[in-house]
Amino acid sequence: MQKEYIQNTKGSEYMKGLASAKLKGKKVIVRVDYNVPMKNGKILDDNRIVASLKTINYLIEHKAKVILLSHLGRVKTNEDKETNSLREVAKHLSTLVNTPVYFVPVTRGEILIETVNNMLEGEIVLVENTRFEDVPKTLESSCDENLSKYWASLGNIFVLDAFGTAHRCHASTYGISKYLPSYAGFLVEEETKVLDDVMAKNKTLIMGGAKVDDKIGVIDNLITKSNKLLIGGAMCFTFLKALGIEVGSSIVSEDKIDYASKVLKKYGDKILLPVDVVTQNGVKDIDKLNKKDIGYDIGPKTIKMFKAELDKAKMVLWNGPLGMYEEKDYEKGTKSIMKYLKTKKYKTILAGGDIVSASKYFKIDLYYASTGGGSTLEYLEGKRFKTLERLKG
Ligand code: 3PG
Repeated sequence: MQKEYIQNTKGSEYMKGLASAKLKGKKVIVRVDYNVPMKNGKILDDNRIVASLKTINYLIEHKAKVILLSHLGRVKTNEDKETNSLREVAKHLSTLVNTPVYFVPVTRGEILIETVNNMLEGEIVLVENTRFEDVPKTLESSCDENLSKYWASLGNIFVLDAFGTAHRCHASTYGISKYLPSYAGFLVEEETKVLDDVMAKNKTLIMGGAKVDDKIGVIDNLITKSNKLLIGGAMCFTFLKALGIEVGSSIVSEDKIDYASKVLKKYGDKILLPVDVVTQNGVKDIDKLNKKDIGYDIGPKTIKMFKAELDKAKMVLWNGPLGMYEEKDYEKGTKSIMKYLKTKKYKTILAGGDIVSASKYFKIDLYYASTGGGSTLEYLEGKRFKTLERLKG
């Protein structure tokens, strides 16, 4: 997938907000991110749909005609089209808003144009998955000029509210913005504001999850602006191994041991690693692990140590669960730290799909849960997206 970045500008400071747009009677194309998890045609988590309502309701209240575009999944073949239709999303959306939602089962053509031309103020049209335009040629994902112009021709104004897709330079994101006056939706405004704020302020970082690979950019960009980095999840074993500690058969990113060594050497005083873990054979101190042990969660001493550190925090940014939380035996690390953060007055920002899923799983809401997956992590790496640049005031 094509990505393009602009470096070193604060997204939230330069974007043109929707509040400044004249909307009555206008056809407003809104790029949302309805790439929601689905199983057997059922939506498993409607977080992203709910997160788009603020912008949609505002447009309806201001008597705009709302044309929604989104992708769903990655569409590479005609078979993929069968399992990646937005029809169910349209049905679900219609239960969340007080206005008719029409679903157009194509991405171009007469039905689409006719439907859009017959829209009344305050109505919503959801167009079929933009990535249907990736078969047979990847027109959407390669930001095809003609497709961009065509979609732009359907409306008078473009609103980007798909923060989860803001790192992509596609026809339905960057492409349309070249041909229409373009604005940031409320979700994009909110996400960039929250992430810019946590990046700029002194914070405590919590990182977990399995692999070190996708965390490197975030660690590199944020560690100097963090007072402590608490590491759990399987990724802690790469760091422990870098210190020469026996980690048994726990998951280790072997090719990242050198990286971990360098980070520990440079920022060792900021990094807190587990002192005990929960293995298949129960809780063990880190220096007691044998070759067969596999660490699946942080242990009780580590939980206590992390909580003591969180007592000193002023703000927390958390990416990646601290253990295999879906298993009852290994849920405690993630669950108890999350519960503890809930008691704190400071803000905790959850970044990345897995930790947001964990908070849903435990039904623990913290200050902010980002709707982005890859886009949130890349934003936290300090990359700025060309698509957001298009929204300059
Ligand atoms: C996501 O879920 O991260 C976004 O919707 C982007 O999806 P993509 O990685 O398939 O472009």
